[in-house]
Amino acid sequence: MNLAVAILAAGQGSRMRSRLPKVLHALAGRPLLGHVLEAARALQPTGIYVVHGHGGEEVRARLAAPDVRWVEQREQLGTGHAVAQVLPELADEQIVLVLYGDVPLVTPQLLQPLVTAAAGGAVGLLTVRPDDPAGYGRIIRDAGGNVAAIVEEKDADTAQKAITEANTGLLAAPAGALRRWLAQLGNDNAQGEYYLTDIIAAARAEDVRVEACLAPDMLQVLGINDRAQLAQLERAYQLREAQRLMQAGLTLADPARFDLRGTLEVGLDCYIDINAVIEGRVRLGEGVRIGPNCQLRDAVLEDGAVVHANSVIEGAVVGAQAVIGPFARLRPGAQIGPRAKAGNFVEIKAAVLEEGAKVNHLSYVGDAHIGRNANIGAGTITCNYDGANKHRTVIGDNAFIGSGTNLVAPVAIGAGATVGAGSTITRDAPAAQLSLSRAKQHSVPGWQRPQKAK
Ligand code: UD1
Ligand code: CA
Repeated sequence: MNLAVAILAAGQGSRMRSRLPKVLHALAGRPLLGHVLEAARALQPTGIYVVHGHGGEEVRARLAAPDVRWVEQREQLGTGHAVAQVLPELADEQIVLVLYGDVPLVTPQLLQPLVTAAAGGAVGLLTVRPDDPAGYGRIIRDAGGNVAAIVEEKDADTAQKAITEANTGLLAAPAGALRRWLAQLGNDNAQGEYYLTDIIAAARAEDVRVEACLAPDMLQVLGINDRAQLAQLERAYQLREAQRLMQAGLTLADPARFDLRGTLEVGLDCYIDINAVIEGRVRLGEGVRIGPNCQLRDAVLEDGAVVHANSVIEGAVVGAQAVIGPFARLRPGAQIGPRAKAGNFVEIKAAVLEEGAKVNHLSYVGDAHIGRNANIGAGTITCNYDGANKHRTVIGDNAFIGSGTNLVAPVAIGAGATVGAGSTITRDAPAAQLSLSRAKQHSVPGWQRPQKAK
């Protein structure tokens, strides 16, 4: 089928009170329009057209994609006028699906019946029954129960305002018919706008069927006008995702304190404590435990991994039964092997900890390779940066690095080597030997500590 999706996004969004165009405000970490584009793409259209106005350049810069075409609507003269801007780009035999850039949670399953109706020559119209329909266009049905027209709230009389079935604004129709109907539109109404909704009466005047599909819940058709609605939809979305994940076998300490801003795959019997923020693509194996207040972005945690409270993990892989935190930071390129440990106040970047290696306290390990079962003492620093270049530190299996050691890279510590506490290591340390660099300790007999004057 030759489907074109028109996404209306030219409205000012003035109730957001923002310098940012409304459709760029984020829901679940992603612009509202990004959500709509995803739903549109799932329908495999031949073209996606975004009608933009105010702030268009910024929107284009953020969401530019090869499959998106941008159509400017210079003056916002109404939804009918907005759709009319796209029609010169379309052939009569195409089906046009109209979406709104500020209605982010539409799903392909909800939209497909509209497209199917339009492909059969009808108008597919998505309606809903909100708790309070005030502000929405109302669906007028004739004596036979068929949709006859839509009347905007501002043009409705008392009897029409009492109708509880409302227009979501989302519809599909054949492009040729839409072209005909839109050409007839006037703006003689309460708002002086060209209403897309008037095509319903025009269709009926030609005896074209209007197939109304009722949305099962408000969430999927809710439009965002202000920041309060944005927050409300964000919470509703998060709760829905939390429920979906719990059904997939995840335990959440509190589904109301869980935030997913990307995708999360979980194995069986994972546990996530309160205030987790999951971003990008995160995958948990089986039996992974995440403590309170953790942020995970683009990470893989294998079976039985444990992340204690207040840890931040980004671009990292955590092996089976490895233990992270509390208060650990894994940065991009951190690869923590099975049963390895990165403990409190430890930062690891672009470094491999092989199986069983331990960095338990207060250390920075960057651009490094740490061998199996090596033990990195408290306060060890890989001095990886000379102000211009990054250098590597390589530590062999079973090495033991004493506390408070500076490893000035590039440097290698051999397998089984021991480095004495407080050393600054600037040359390679041989395997299986003790290396240390430390000023000799001496004591001053008879030395007096200065006294405060009385
Ligand atoms: C519209 C519908 C109403 C429906 C409601 C659902 C019409 C006339 N009314 O009303 O029946 O119940 O949506 O929320 O269609 N837009 C443009 N260009 C314009 C005007 C609007 O791109 O010239 C875009 C807006 O950015 C927005 C969408 O179209 O994304 C809807 O516009 P809005 O002004 O919110 O429509 P409503 O008056 O709420
Ligand atoms: Ca609206």
